[in-house]
Amino acid sequence: MLILGIETSCDETAVCIVSATGDKNTPAFSVLGNALNSQIKIHEQYGGVFPALAKREHSRNLIPLFKKTLEESGFGISNSQFLISNEQVEDIKAILTKEPELQEQFLAYLPKIEKPSIDAIAVTVGPGLEPALWVGINFARALSLLWNIPIIPVNHMEGHIVSVLVDREITKSKFLISDPQTKDRKLSTNNSPILFPALALLISGGHTELILIESWGTYTNIGQTRDDAVGEAFDKVARMLGLPYPGGPEISRLATKSRFSNTGQPTPYPLPRPMLHTKDFDFSFSGLKTAVLYLTQELKTLTEKDKEVIAREFEDAVTEVLVTKTKKALEHYGAQTLIIGGGVIANTHIRKAFEALVTEHPHIKLFFPSLALSTDNAVMIACAGYMQHLTQTPDHTATPLLVAKGNLSF
Ligand code: KG4
Ligand code: ZN
Repeated sequence: MLILGIETSCDETAVCIVSATGDKNTPAFSVLGNALNSQIKIHEQYGGVFPALAKREHSRNLIPLFKKTLEESGFGISNSQFLISNEQVEDIKAILTKEPELQEQFLAYLPKIEKPSIDAIAVTVGPGLEPALWVGINFARALSLLWNIPIIPVNHMEGHIVSVLVDREITKSKFLISDPQTKDRKLSTNNSPILFPALALLISGGHTELILIESWGTYTNIGQTRDDAVGEAFDKVARMLGLPYPGGPEISRLATKSRFSNTGQPTPYPLPRPMLHTKDFDFSFSGLKTAVLYLTQELKTLTEKDKEVIAREFEDAVTEVLVTKTKKALEHYGAQTLIIGGGVIANTHIRKAFEALVTEHPHIKLFFPSLALSTDNAVMIACAGYMQHLTQTPDHTATPLLVAKGNLSF
């Protein structure tokens, strides 16, 4: 089955075509084409994502990325025979009325190419920034109308879970940067199957949650942050230290420096480990963030060394809380598998801490996505669409409700 994946929930515009085969225990994926544009540089000056700008950028960039993806996949062949009726033009104009750049580019490009043999469109419908989500959804609706293929609405967070099913070896290095020279497009399943019950820890810019997975498609949220998401805390603390957005990689860089030069010594600036010993599986990072704020105010001017030490202490505090809470949940639910997804798992220190945790508990299998699939991308959305296709009985009587759901949860 060939699936077109579309992701526009935040500040990454991403499109891919994935070929998916196998059943729910042995799914296998290969990426035929993939293109991604990050808006980081545009949002940097605001210290976070600015929704109206994100919407405009998605609207501008979808068609060029889509074109690249089609061409990389061997599609996108021009065809003078293909006609688009006036009625279709009017319908597409109506669907894309709020995305003028996309509307114009869509109508200039799509009528000129042959319909590819794509079977379905998987698109993120939430959670995320609603104006941004709508761009991807409306693009999917216009394509679905033109090509008469179904849409699979995907929960972005399910995408982060499913991202671990894609083999790491093959997602290495270049594949996210659409490089026509990259012949290595094969992607396959992660060899070892996921054993249930599984627990997923999702750590991103908008989320920090623990999800119990009884089987594919059966998700229960057992704990979440009561205030800031862990990625958000990384970003805000980075800002306090005068570091650019997104803060995660910057904090990680400074923390690593400090660890390197300061073997095993505790930092002179102890920070709290919020909710470390509470009985529930919830998290809280806003107190930790505020503690950093007070510390920076107290120190007045921050030397490079201070920044490094604070970054290390902050990263240690976050890691300790994440590992302790996850360990407790694994034991409580007798989970056999631990899946960790979301942008923050690009963090090397946090990865290592979880690797150490499962070394102590060898019966638990640990799954991370490749680094390329840790942050937002369209491949995970296409793969989640396929898993949904395998696990949900299609209801032919109802067309899926296609609305952006900013707060979509499990
Ligand atoms: O999953 P993601 O790409 O987007 C959301 O769905 O939110 O996650 C983005 C978040 C940002 O807050 C960013 O600072 C964080 O992931 N992040 C990291 C690292 N790389 C990205 N946090 C800690 N360490 C990193 N190396
Ligand atoms: Zn994400």
